[in-house]
Amino acid sequence: MELMKKLWNAAKADKKRIVLPEGEEERTLSAAEKIYKLELAYPILIGDDEKIYRKAKEIGVNLEGIEIVNPEKSERLGEYIKEFYELRKNKGMTMEKADKIVRDPLYFGTMMVKLDDADGMVSGAIHTTGDLLRPGLQIIKTTPGVSVVSSFFIMMVPGSKYGEEGLLLFSDCAVNPNPTYEQLAQIAIATADTARKLCKIEPRVAMLSFSTMGSADHETVDKVRRATELAKELRPDLLIDGEMQLDAAIVEKVASQKAPNSKVAGRANVLIFPDLQSGNIGYKLVQRFANADAIGPMCQGFAKPINDLSRGCSDDDIVNVVVLTAVQAQEQK
Ligand code: ACO
Repeated sequence: MELMKKLWNAAKADKKRIVLPEGEEERTLSAAEKIYKLELAYPILIGDDEKIYRKAKEIGVNLEGIEIVNPEKSERLGEYIKEFYELRKNKGMTMEKADKIVRDPLYFGTMMVKLDDADGMVSGAIHTTGDLLRPGLQIIKTTPGVSVVSSFFIMMVPGSKYGEEGLLLFSDCAVNPNPTYEQLAQIAIATADTARKLCKIEPRVAMLSFSTMGSADHETVDKVRRATELAKELRPDLLIDGEMQLDAAIVEKVASQKAPNSKVAGRANVLIFPDLQSGNIGYKLVQRFANADAIGPMCQGFAKPINDLSRGCSDDDIVNVVVLTAVQAQEQK
């Protein structure tokens, strides 16, 4: 995994503070130890410190040098509650409700990132995607100029010639159930930028559909067509094309028949799915049938990086997502 090696080196070169709000969880503890020892980032564990030390001892994890923050004992708690109340008061938030909510490690961790006590956050070993996204959407919000948070997977298909020698970005597979055409255009642009910044590849973005260049008509195809037009108009510097079927996007021979004039068709390395059903099913098909490494879902569009894990993740998966989050934090400086 050449890309991961490069990202590990990048993370080491300028270490970032990454909060792990599921600090009492075994895989998270083991990941924190690895991250600290390998000098990939400064992990910060959130939770009940006594429980954390007890659990670490039980599973043989050494936490020496690693910062542990117990929200109940933190001197920053009062400020986080006040700031959260200020952020959400026009949405019906009260000081009393804020006092309860911010003690939740996911909200507490998100406030740490918001107020620059950390550079990024990773969670999801025991929480759902929605549990992580909600505090992120409410507190961190989007990067200026970006209207939608979305997700991407880095798919690495061993021995494959498709994409960038087997490396492709898939989006959106985890956040927006049914994006509008404007949102779909934003997702395509964000993923192209991620491909450039994080994966250091020149993106060739295919807007996927069951139709190629007008071969079928349906309102769902029309959405992809309009998204393609808008994305091209907004970012003429990017290679974005569609609508196109998956085979036309990645197989040169099919592309030469179905989309002969496209600079993307047959060579796409960024695949944009029309909705969450197809995106989520699509990445899982490739992961299972092609034995692909699927790194993600990583978030894009947040003003500061916060990222999700799969609940089936290993400690090494957590290490890799922390590395990616640290590199995103470097890019967002
Ligand atoms: N981008 C930017 N802002 C957003 C987005 C978005 N994609 N979605 C919601 N928001 C904003 C809302 O406008 C709102 O702002 P406000 O409160 O300041 O007005 C705030 O975020 C919260 O919105 P809600 O409506 O409370 O949140 P919602 O119920 O829409 O939930 C969520 C948002 C969590 C992203 C939801 O769409 C969701 O659950 N998505 C699917 C997640 C999922 O289950 N993924 C599949 C599994 S992952 C896997 O298999 C790898």
